[in-house]
Parts: sequence; structure tokens; C-alpha cells
Amino acid sequence: MNNQEFSPQERAKQKAGYKAAEYVSNGMIIGLGTGSTVAFTMARLKERIETEGLSIHGVPTSIQTMIRATELGIPIIGLEQADKIDITIDGADQIDPKLRLIKGRGAAHVRERIIADASLHLIIVADSSKMYDTLSGPIPVEIIPFALSHVQKRLKKLGGKPNTREGVKKDGPVISDNGNIVLDYYPSERFDPIKLETEINMIPGVVSCGIFAEFASKTTVIIGDEEPKIITLLDLNQ
Ligand code: A5P
Repeated sequence: MNNQEFSPQERAKQKAGYKAAEYVSNGMIIGLGTGSTVAFTMARLKERIETEGLSIHGVPTSIQTMIRATELGIPIIGLEQADKIDITIDGADQIDPKLRLIKGRGAAHVRERIIADASLHLIIVADSSKMYDTLSGPIPVEIIPFALSHVQKRLKKLGGKPNTREGVKKDGPVISDNGNIVLDYYPSERFDPIKLETEINMIPGVVSCGIFAEFASKTTVIIGDEEPKIITLLDLNQ
């Protein structure tokens, strides 16, 4: 797509995605997130590889990102080949003022959490529509198929409604890259992100939910605008 054909939102995503690519330097191992915003970062990394000879390796967080990186000529390695991940660049569905996140619209949050956890720094790229005063549902939850009915009961007990996510151009539930079922959980009331994240992740059969409350101290958020806005917890505490 030509730049002129971008909607204002796509333009903002591009600005954020490109800005994040400036943080990448030679020799780094980069966690490559999933989604439409980080796709711009990857496009910019391809340009930097071709024009500057930038030498990096990427660790993809999804099959989609693995395919995209391969098409773009970004060298990829498996998590087991990475001594460390210098920076992960990823998108988010919601970001609160304490830099806690909701992720998983694309059902990639389990691998995204693993790669975020393995990374020294996490850069979240987004347009301004992702900034929220408080996090709210839907919260994606990945579940081992055997445990689906049990997890649904447990989530109802927590209050709120679990909706199994239906496939598009595929009958039945969405199956994640890990072979599991994904549901979207709508809490009935306002919640404490750390508490709810722990409660959901403790339910036997849950692989992981999409609340990411534990990475704020190593997170930088880039909100796309003509001059992208860069937010870290340090700025917020000043
Ligand atoms: C993938 O499952 C998600 O966590 C994405 O990273 C998130 O939905 C952001 O995607 P966009 O950049 O497409 O909004």
C-alpha cells in the first residue's frame, strides 16, 4: 500500500513502528511481536538491513511473524538459540497509565509473554486509540482443549462471561499456534490487573491470559504521531 492511501490510524501505527526500529543496532537479537503495528517495524528493519547492512536476528512470537520475517529477509532464530533477547518490539490492544497491557487480539499472547519475559527491554508500539484510563475486557485466555469446560466454569465463578473465540473462514473455535483454544473473558466489574492476571493464570488448564502487568518496569511505549510520543515508567514517576 502506498503511504498516501493510509488512514490516519495506519499512519500513526507506521510512525510508532518506524520509531521503534531506531532502537535496534548491530548484533542485537530482537523479539518480533505480532500484529499490524509491529509489521511496520519489521518493514523498516528490512530497509535498514538492505541500506545500512544492519546485522540482527529476530525471534518471532507467532507463525504469522515467522512467515513475515522470512519474506522480508530478516534472519530468524529459535528462542533456544538466543542467549538473550536485547529488545522485543510488540503491539498491544490496551495500555493503561501504569504501562500494564492487554494483549492477544491475534491469539499470540502466550508466545508474546514468553518472549517478553526473556527480553531485557520491551517496546510497545501503538496508535493513541490503545491508551486507556483503566484496562477492561475482553481478556484473551488460551486454554488446553481438555480443560475448556472447567476453565469456563472457573471464569464464571470469578464473575463475568467467557466467550469462546470463533474462527473466521474456519468452523469452530480459534486454535492458537500452540494447538490450544482461545476464549475472550469479559469481567463483570472493574479489576486490579495484577490480581486478575494471577487468578486467571492459576486456573488449571489455562496456559496464559492476555493481561501483561509484570513488564512495566522494562517497558517503553511508543505512541505514533507526527512526532511519536515515548512513555516509560520513569517519565510517569517524575
Ligand atoms: C497479538 O495476539 C496481539 O497481542 C497483538 O500484538 C496486538 O493485538 C496488537 O496488534 P495490532 O498492532 O495489530 O493492533
